[in-house]
Amino acid sequence: MSVRPLFITIEGIDGAGKSTHLAAIQAQLTLAGARVRATREPGGTPLAEALREQVLRSAMDPLTEAMLVFAARRDHVLNVIRPALACGEVVLSDRFADASFAYQGGGRGVAWRQLEVLEDWACEGLRPGLTLWFDLDPAEAARRRARARAADRCEAEDVAFFERVRDGYARRQAADPGRFAVIDAGLSVDEVAAQVRQTLVDRGW
Ligand code: TYD
Repeated sequence: MSVRPLFITIEGIDGAGKSTHLAAIQAQLTLAGARVRATREPGGTPLAEALREQVLRSAMDPLTEAMLVFAARRDHVLNVIRPALACGEVVLSDRFADASFAYQGGGRGVAWRQLEVLEDWACEGLRPGLTLWFDLDPAEAARRRARARAADRCEAEDVAFFERVRDGYARRQAADPGRFAVIDAGLSVDEVAAQVRQTLVDRGW
């Protein structure tokens, strides 16, 4: 059995279905004995939630956007994630740094090396032990989003944008394959749930 990851993140393009599976993931970890701290990005603290509002509502230059999401992340790491891990909690975050490489890097064209600097500053070496990447064809994700809800700034982007976001996730995964579990989010809800469940079992949960 592998060492149980204590910091777990969930990633994927908008419409890939991560929200659908979040509660079940939390429940499985709890049943396996974890005290789970569920959180999200951008957000997770009052300051980071305020920055989230700005980023999702106001048009801005891509590097400014990247700096704001990483500023929010630093606040989240310092005030929530690190303290929770230090108390022995398992942190389950709906998005983390990979989302900035995917959206601001892949999607909006911010240079990878600039994002790496921001990641160093914001996270100070903190990396998830496991990242569940809900991978889905962007055209299918667009069909699902159209059925679901009103779009925020990112969600309103076209399929070409989400192709680039997906490529950003793929680049992060290729650089650190052991950390990622790639979930085929194109399957049925039950099949996706089974993949996620098995992944957590395989990782010791
Ligand atoms: P999302 O996580 O999908 O939340 P919701 O459940 O409200 O849809 O939305 C957050 C949006 O923020 C999503 O479109 C991706 C974007 N985002 C970035 O652009 N950069 C980041 O670093 C993060 C964490 C999110």
